[in-house]
Amino acid sequence: MNLQGKTIVLVVTGGIAVYKAVELLRLLTKAGATVQVIMTRAATEFVTPLTFQTLSGNPVHTELFNLIQEQEIGHISLADRADALVIAPATANCIGKLANGIADDLLTTTVMATTAPVLLAPAMNVNMYQHPAYRQNEQKLRQMGCQVVDPEQGELACGWQGTGRLARPEVIFEAVCRLCAPQDLVGQTILVTAGPTREELDPIRFISNHSSGRMGYALARAAQRRGARVILVSGPVALDRPTGIELVPVASACQMQQAVMERVEACTVVIKAAAVADYRPVQRSDQKIKKEGERLVVELERNPDILAGLGRLTRRPLLVGFAAETGDLQGHAAAKLAAKNLDMIVANDVTQEGAGFNVATNIARLLFRDGRVEELALMSKEELADLILDRVRGLLG
Ligand code: C5P
Repeated sequence: MNLQGKTIVLVVTGGIAVYKAVELLRLLTKAGATVQVIMTRAATEFVTPLTFQTLSGNPVHTELFNLIQEQEIGHISLADRADALVIAPATANCIGKLANGIADDLLTTTVMATTAPVLLAPAMNVNMYQHPAYRQNEQKLRQMGCQVVDPEQGELACGWQGTGRLARPEVIFEAVCRLCAPQDLVGQTILVTAGPTREELDPIRFISNHSSGRMGYALARAAQRRGARVILVSGPVALDRPTGIELVPVASACQMQQAVMERVEACTVVIKAAAVADYRPVQRSDQKIKKEGERLVVELERNPDILAGLGRLTRRPLLVGFAAETGDLQGHAAAKLAAKNLDMIVANDVTQEGAGFNVATNIARLLFRDGRVEELALMSKEELADLILDRVRGLLG
């Protein structure tokens, strides 16, 4: 997600997980955010402010009343400027203070003074995490409207096993993106299909295509950030499982069809970004096909067209298709839009550099039911995902 123009206040409190906050800072700045870092005195014992200062490009704030900092920025100004305030790692001590309205340092004062959304990423020993005092404090902060990224389970730095390990930086980053995104898809249930399908020839081999799933996953993540409930029906891909999204893994086109049809009734929007194989082998051999003659002929039969099937439903959700073409983009895409009874189709010429399968960018043309056509420039799949969702939002009315 593009966080250009957003100011994130990253509050770092003192626990061994401070080093992970460095990675979170990198993710935030790479996404274009301006990051102001507040560190507690204990946090500076683990990693020096210099690291955070160098990576954020801004002075690190450590003191409540610092003559130079106060003149430049001040804790109220930090609180006012924030689009979101993230506390990672958040210690039991800081959560305890915040839950009880104590404001005796820069961190607690800034959190109390801000009207921006606050995100906590707790990290502590498993017994502290389970302590009734901590549980009550966390609950209180949730009730006050703070968002919490739960710690993960595993081996803790203190030697214990259990829950208390700071969530991974990518997971916290995703939660920050959600806080900064417009919540314009709340109440929508959006099913996205992604990736290729695999049509098996035998237990070892299959027919597939070059789809990486990136476009579909970017759409699913963007829709979730914007408040939608998201169901992601995914063919086999090498992408991280997105958190907070219902993931339905499938392999073949027939499995994808079943997964989509079982869920479509609950959906308000279906976006079919998957590259579904049009044909499958007539016969799948139970045994490995042996190398025998000089030639092997494989007979294929048509797969169901899932999207066309959705277009024929009497009560159908808003439908968005994709058209990957190698020529006459406009003609083919317009024909598919009409034949499949879609609301919108995202067409791209996969022979163009920077477009299509397995690259991080795309060059798309959007065609709408009413004949409108929108030509788009080269952009990242993340940017395109948000733009597609803007148009979906418009079509939903
Ligand atoms: O007809 P074509 O395969 O080019 O159409 C592409 C669009 O149709 C994509 O949105 C794709 O996900 C969908 N599709 C489908 N089932 C198929 C083939 C394509 O849903 N068997």
